Amino acid sequence: MSYKVAMSSPDLSEVERQAVGEVLQTPRLSMGPRLEAFEGAIAERVGLRHAIAVNSGTAGLHLCVRAAGIGAGDAVITSPFSFVASSNVLLYERAVPIFVDVDPLTGNLDPAQVAAAAADLAQGGRRAERWLPRCGAEGWTSLRGLLTVDVFGQPADHDPLAATARQHGLTLIEDSCEALGASYNGRPAGTLGDIAVFAFYPNKQITSGEGGMVVTDRDDLAGMVRSLRNQGRAPGDTWLDHTFLGYNYRMDELNAALGYAQMTRLDELLDKREAVAGWYAAQLAGIPGVEAPVVVPSTTRMSWFVYVVRFDPGIDRDALIHRLDQEGIPSRPYFKPIHLQPYVQQRFGTQAGDFPVAEDLGARGLALPFSGVMRQDEVALVCDILRRVIG
Ligand SMILES: Cc1ncc(COP(=O)(O)O)c(C=O)c1O
Repeated sequence: MSYKVAMSSPDLSEVERQAVGEVLQTPRLSMGPRLEAFEGAIAERVGLRHAIAVNSGTAGLHLCVRAAGIGAGDAVITSPFSFVASSNVLLYERAVPIFVDVDPLTGNLDPAQVAAAAADLAQGGRRAERWLPRCGAEGWTSLRGLLTVDVFGQPADHDPLAATARQHGLTLIEDSCEALGASYNGRPAGTLGDIAVFAFYPNKQITSGEGGMVVTDRDDLAGMVRSLRNQGRAPGDTWLDHTFLGYNYRMDELNAALGYAQMTRLDELLDKREAVAGWYAAQLAGIPGVEAPVVVPSTTRMSWFVYVVRFDPGIDRDALIHRLDQEGIPSRPYFKPIHLQPYVQQRFGTQAGDFPVAEDLGARGLALPFSGVMRQDEVALVCDILRRVIG
């Protein structure tokens, strides 16, 4: 099927092509100066002391979990309304995700429910059990972490979330894979917890091909992430010394050169995405039954990752996807909640009805074609066809 408009597209220029080409003029394809430059650019942008590049957002999140010492039986409160990687990294370590429902406006974790879950789990016994049957009681020992997600480029409400983490001594991991460039009450996404991760798949605000970046101000966490990404080599280890069980999660020089070049254009890239979102909002205002995304006041800058609209409950979203597809317009139902993915249901017994808000958003939400290189006439075309197929 050839589509009239691309679902997403990276925004690449001569700057990126030249930067990647230059790497091939050198013998240094890994662990070189481009990696350091890319890490430095991200650290400076978010104002943190450490940025550690890895070869995917998932790898970065996995290292956060390992560096925080979260392991078998440790419970971590997190969101069911996310891309699966944010809770998969807990499952890799046999930690237990405690899913908590989300805010109906933003799709981000609901701070009041997170506080209630943390208080109940800290009490243990009956109160803890309230959260466990639908989250997997299997081998649960103690509450250790809070893993928040900045959904679709909008930071979660981190002031109350961080207060809960502090109160219960939880490590706060911020999955900011979708939110590079966003800010919350004036502070950059990625700085709102103990450690955070950005991701650079080609549909993201900036891309390195595949790639991710862990950021933190904590020396202990940064040191461990650096070792674990590099096969567990601690400072002072030679190539064949491995103090820890680690991974090869390194980012190579080609990816780093691309990522760095994109960072030099970050504000331009964010502005272009914002303009496209603005065109969509203006066009959608005239279509009955379609809600544009909501940006809440604590979000002092939205960093548009995807453009997800919501349909009124009476509209058959899945039939619309099919009609749009027939008309040459691609779209994606964002997200199918994590607790309804087959392997999660099988392991924890989660089911439809457990997290009604996440399920409702998942059932009514649709990502429309979106990127910073989308033209105004393409947005108009998508909206015209949407108006027609809804009508
Ligand atoms: C919320 C969230 N977490 C984690 C990831 C994983 O990033 P990657 O695809 O780079 O592994 C993504 C990527 O789409 C994401 O959207």
